Amino acid sequence: MRLFYAVFLPEEVRAALVEAQTKVRPFRGWKPVPPHQLHLTLLFLGERPEEELPDYLALGHRLARLEAPFRARLRGTGYFPNEGTPRVWFAKAEAEGFLRLAEGLRAGVEELLGEEAVRIPGWDKPFKPHITLARRKAPAPWVPPVLFGLEWPVEGFALVRSELKPKGPVYTVLEKFSLRGEHGREQAQGPGERPEGD
Ligand code: 2AM
Repeated sequence: MRLFYAVFLPEEVRAALVEAQTKVRPFRGWKPVPPHQLHLTLLFLGERPEEELPDYLALGHRLARLEAPFRARLRGTGYFPNEGTPRVWFAKAEAEGFLRLAEGLRAGVEELLGEEAVRIPGWDKPFKPHITLARRKAPAPWVPPVLFGLEWPVEGFALVRSELKPKGPVYTVLEKFSLRGEHGREQAQGPGERPEGD
């Protein structure tokens, strides 16, 4: 089964992204991601044997017990690749928490699979937190950038199954993991307050 870990988005973030997608809708070569599928991939696992599923569920639960909820920011749009012919139009997302989760999952999968982990497609690529807005399926123009000024709380992540169908992938959330740890907890600091020991 084809698996990945991802963060799904609250309604107001989805609404802003759907609004941005109107830029590519006039062009048939761009295929916008359906609103309910918009997500940020933390780690793509690719095709894995079904008997490994309990390990990936356990890893998600373990990490969620350690890591704290955090706030994320939505930045502007960009393209992959950045030069030449774009394949993907995305919205950049920012938060230390995404890096912590992606790193924690990666370390956990490395522990589970050992050397075999390097065979996961994209394993050697650096993690770039983004939400794919549209995929380019045929010639289509670049569209001007969109800037977002949104923040949202990230309270959990999910293990997702992807089935590739002729009409596009079908995603099924297999399990949700709620962040309830202390690692990376952001300190609420008012003006004039200083971190302890400063
Ligand atoms: P993308 O949106 O940038 O294409 C399910 O396929 C998710 O896993 C997608 O969000 C996709 O990211 C991500 N992913 C990362 N590496 C992938 C790969 N090598 N093949 C397919 N999907 C990949």
